[in-house]
Amino acid sequence: PKPNGDPTAMLMKSYACQRRTPLKHYNSFLTEALEILSQNAEYNDNEGRSVAFRRAASVLKALPRRVRSMQDLRCLPCLGDHSQRVIKEILEDGSSREVESTRQSEQYQAMKALTGIFGVGVRTADRWFREGLRSPDDLIRTGQQLNREQQAGVQYYDDLQKPVTKAEADVISDIVEKAVHAVLPGAEIQLMGGFRRGKEVGHDVDFLITHPEEGKEEGLMPKITNWLKEQGLLLYQKTTRNSYLEKMDGPARASSNMDRFERCFSIFKLQKSHQSEASGWRAVRVDLVVSPYSQFAFATLGWTGSKLFERELRRWAGQEKHMSLSSHALYDSKQNLYLRAKTEEEIFAYLGLEFIPPSERNA
Ligand code: CTP
Ligand code: MN
Ligand code: MN
Ligand code: MN
Repeated sequence: PKPNGDPTAMLMKSYACQRRTPLKHYNSFLTEALEILSQNAEYNDNEGRSVAFRRAASVLKALPRRVRSMQDLRCLPCLGDHSQRVIKEILEDGSSREVESTRQSEQYQAMKALTGIFGVGVRTADRWFREGLRSPDDLIRTGQQLNREQQAGVQYYDDLQKPVTKAEADVISDIVEKAVHAVLPGAEIQLMGGFRRGKEVGHDVDFLITHPEEGKEEGLMPKITNWLKEQGLLLYQKTTRNSYLEKMDGPARASSNMDRFERCFSIFKLQKSHQSEASGWRAVRVDLVVSPYSQFAFATLGWTGSKLFERELRRWAGQEKHMSLSSHALYDSKQNLYLRAKTEEEIFAYLGLEFIPPSERNA
């Protein structure tokens, strides 16, 4: 074959935000393995390693065909020695010993169960693991001190473990729309996160809310949650006020991945449509975010995900364009100014990137 004769290798760009990554792809047998190692690195507080495995997996998701030999990987970016070793073993033996022993390990399984509790991060889970705790039941049995969020997490653990379907997300969308319009007519509501990217299931449902008249959205969240509470639709909610100030949070902090919008992490009580089901309702995690209209395009881009796609966008902006991107704004360090945008398309254009639609941001 001619040198550079492989079109796949030639076209594969190194940042995930330069590529189209569909939801369904040809290499799950490899990406699932690499993502276990990524997850395990995260459990061990090794972010660099975790991101490396995730980037490797993401490159394979963007390939237009199944990987059959190591030859297929020539010239692909982001595949380090370790990832290549794992891929090689899977191609040759059908599985990787490192991946399988990780999957079976007590630490991996306990960390998965414990971080799977709403309100529990890696640090808390790790502390519990070192104290000998392995599951939500262990927390209850030993009477662990839990904050309000974690109490709800343990209480609704089984429901929250079950994937949320698109049909359930659509019912929640109708409820959220009704609540928002009851307290602020003219407000706009958009489904975000995995469902905006075309996923059929998710771990929660994400919404972004705004109003075309800037300022009308201020203080909106408590009104929405009160309405929902009155209807008996909320099992848990925690609202955080908007704390974004361009002058203070602008360039210096804009690249932080935590945004500062008014937001609400909640658990909805969703009535089941079929009365034949054992219990009449289930708990569903819902994230609500309120954005001023002028930041709506940035918020939309920032809350669509995937998490790796977002991370890569910010890395691209900083390293390749000397800009800082957040869910609030895009700041150009060379020109010393904020770049205004009304649409996601404009933001990609400022960044010198081809527009990638949400359904192809599944990096
Ligand atoms: N996000 C964020 N700040 C948070 C949590 C999430 O900006 N504290 C953003 C993420 O970057 C992501 C989006 O919100 O772009 C959705 O996050 P999440 O619901 O965790 O993931 P999904 O992609 O929706 O996947 P899933 O289906 O599992 O919910
Ligand atoms: Mn290594
Ligand atoms: Mn989500
Ligand atoms: Mn979410």
